[in-house]
Amino acid sequence: MVDSKGRIAKKLRISVTDRCNFACLFCMPDKSKVKWLPGPDQLTFDEIERSARVLSELGIDGIRITGGEPLLRKNLENLVARLSRLDAVETLDMTTNGWFLKQKARLLKDSGLRGVTVSLHSLKRDRFSKISGMDALPRVLEGIEEAARVGLDPVKINSVAIKGYNDDEIVDLVEFAHSRGLSIRFIEFMPLDGLGIWSPDAIMPGKDIISVLKGSFDLSPMGREKGKTASLWSFGSDGGKLGLITPMSEPFCDDCDRIRLTSDGKLLSCLFDTQYYDLKPILRGSGSDAELAKFVKDVVSKKPEGVGYMPWVKEGWAKPRNMNAIGG
Ligand code: GTP
Ligand code: 5AD
Ligand code: SF4
Repeated sequence: MVDSKGRIAKKLRISVTDRCNFACLFCMPDKSKVKWLPGPDQLTFDEIERSARVLSELGIDGIRITGGEPLLRKNLENLVARLSRLDAVETLDMTTNGWFLKQKARLLKDSGLRGVTVSLHSLKRDRFSKISGMDALPRVLEGIEEAARVGLDPVKINSVAIKGYNDDEIVDLVEFAHSRGLSIRFIEFMPLDGLGIWSPDAIMPGKDIISVLKGSFDLSPMGREKGKTASLWSFGSDGGKLGLITPMSEPFCDDCDRIRLTSDGKLLSCLFDTQYYDLKPILRGSGSDAELAKFVKDVVSKKPEGVGYMPWVKEGWAKPRNMNAIGG
């Protein structure tokens, strides 16, 4: 699956639900107004598995399960087990808010999940509640601990750095992750928030994060692996590592290898694409796998150049969707 810029799609992000039990202020719309996707519109596990199989036969070798909060989907471990059996899929990971991890980590590991990335934007309980819309810090920390204990690997921490909210905790978050042997990535705030609080001024650019961290750590740049979101930095003598995900200040679109499937069966070749390409008519009609494959290849061939080439997104006046509907 190749696009007009020669980029090859290798990684698939599958959002299994748009619902979330948290309400992070840089992601979800106002919970009292949000309209969740009706259940029947959601792809079934059979439909997700079939789509993933066809995509894996076309070159996808890594899958990340996302949401909303993916663990709200009942018996998600059954889907994990099915996806982990796809021959061409070498890595199967999940991005989660951590709420259900303490209870589910063992089951997910036994079902074939490789690793988890847990969102953690503050280590202060009140502030965590304010940012995430749930008084959940102790429970999320227990979830992270359990994920590592049962051998999910990698366990990564994601922190969206927002000016005026958590930019004074960057050093503490790195120390927290480092002391537990986990990797942490700081993410620039993207204009995909449901409440409309995004503004260019709220972004904590990667270079500012590095300036702050240089006051406490001896950092060395390790660069960004092709196709990856994070530029890595090493520090200390004991293998400390952290990542910066800079879609706004230094986009990584030129070697992007990701495509996305929404929970209602729409394929997106770019997080910022304004078009939806619905697989459901093929999946729910009598479409063959060959038709599905042809459709998907056509969607990928039309992949936009990416956010780096969409200055209007950086100005904040084009928001194709809220993050909860696509899972990042
Ligand atoms: P790994 O490389 O496997 O660790 O995963 P990841 O960094 O792609 O996944 P994760 O779900 O942890 O996402 C981290 C952040 O990167 C989230 O804020 C995502 O929205 C963002 N992100 C992931 N892929 C893309 C992308 O293709 N484009 C942009 N602009 N942001 C992305
Ligand atoms: N900008 C950047 N990252 C975001 N995330 C959610 N909303 C945004 C946003 N507007 C993060 C989540 C999760 C990952 C999938 O994306 O915190 O870690
Ligand atoms: Fe890929 Fe689009 Fe993200 Fe750029 S903005 S890295 S092209 S998904």
